[in-house]
Amino acid sequence: MMRIKVDNLSFGYDYRTVLKNISFSIESGDFLVIVGNNGSGKSTLIKCCLGINKVPENKIFIDDIEINDYQKWINIGYVPQKFDDFNYEFPITVNEILTVSKLSKLDEEERLTLLDKMGILELQNENINTLSGGQLQRVFITRALMNHPKLLVLDEPTVGVDSDNIKAFYRMVNDLNSEGVTIILITHEIKTSKANFSHILHLDDGRAELTHVCDIDFGGDK
Ligand SMILES: Nc1ncnc2c1ncn2[C@@H]1O[C@H](COP(=O)(O)OP(=O)(O)OP(=O)(O)O)[C@@H](O)[C@H]1O
Ligand SMILES: [Mg+2]
Repeated sequence: MMRIKVDNLSFGYDYRTVLKNISFSIESGDFLVIVGNNGSGKSTLIKCCLGINKVPENKIFIDDIEINDYQKWINIGYVPQKFDDFNYEFPITVNEILTVSKLSKLDEEERLTLLDKMGILELQNENINTLSGGQLQRVFITRALMNHPKLLVLDEPTVGVDSDNIKAFYRMVNDLNSEGVTIILITHEIKTSKANFSHILHLDDGRAELTHVCDIDFGGDK
């Protein structure tokens, strides 16, 4: 099960309110895309839903559990938004970054299959500082998949990834979703992404509007 309910959430940093009275919910198996202009609060909202931003009581529920009491974070995979100047100060390899999580549920064969699927099998022993931005992004996506997550949260995961790998990436995300993994995706490429999303949450000036995909007229685009 993976259900998220946000009930009248307002959130800000210091004196500035970023999210204003946001309410929406998603159910197991949903594929939610969050869209909105730069600075509209997309990353802030998912950080609230992941317990990274502390929110007041009874505003967010995961599987009907108040978020401040929620404990099964192992069921959630998260790929944070990439920063262009992202850099590790120490020489860690791809394999090391993938195995620091001792919680991985994958055996060796499954791990190699996943690395192969993600196109990073050959990069296992590379120092991550030598990877391209897109390769590094694929390492982080792979890491988020290591625990067989029930919910996968992806914050602009394909920025810096080339078009072939973007296509492969959305095929994989769509497959995971059809296997029952709930997806929350932030992207600016909603029309070209080929993501099989079921709902769109549009953030504008701190307010949110949720639309079910069957209610959207894409003018033949999707
Ligand atoms: N840790 C923080 N401290 C203070 N202000 C912040 C912090 N994180 C975000 N903000 C501010 O909150 C607002 C929303 O930021 P957020 O990162 O959620 O936007 P976004 O919709 O994800 O934008 P983008 O499309 O650029 O990723 C911005 O005005 C930003 O400056
Ligand atoms: Mg963001």
